[in-house]
Amino acid sequence: MIYIQRREKFCAAHKLWNEKWDAETNVKIFGKCSNPNYHGHNFDLLVTVKGEIDPETGFVMNLFELKKILKANIIDKIDHKNLNLDVDFMAGKLTSSENLAVAIWDILAPIIKSKNAILHCVRLAETDNNIIEYYG
Ligand code: NI
Repeated sequence: MIYIQRREKFCAAHKLWNEKWDAETNVKIFGKCSNPNYHGHNFDLLVTVKGEIDPETGFVMNLFELKKILKANIIDKIDHKNLNLDVDFMAGKLTSSENLAVAIWDILAPIIKSKNAILHCVRLAETDNNIIEYYG
């Protein structure tokens, strides 16, 4: 088994707010991410795919194809978008990086499987220091 990775960067706005709580609790729990008029992050997405090397290509999966899959299914839908308002697969969810990583996984896993490879990890960094990893 060998692992390949593709990095994508995107910018998106969001607001973390739990409607079940009062404003004071939301501010206490979510801090700056509770700002009523949203705010942005420069996200760093690292997608790891694993599989065996195809002797015909020398690849686990063509990274150019992985790039196209990520662009069409993820990046075009979230880059320069408001995660709370604009992104169909985040509708009704708290737009935490955890939930976004799981949503990205759920979209990518079947597509990558159809290319005879296996999604291994979705790593999403909301800042340089706050990083989420999801392994399905
Ligand atoms: Ni935030």
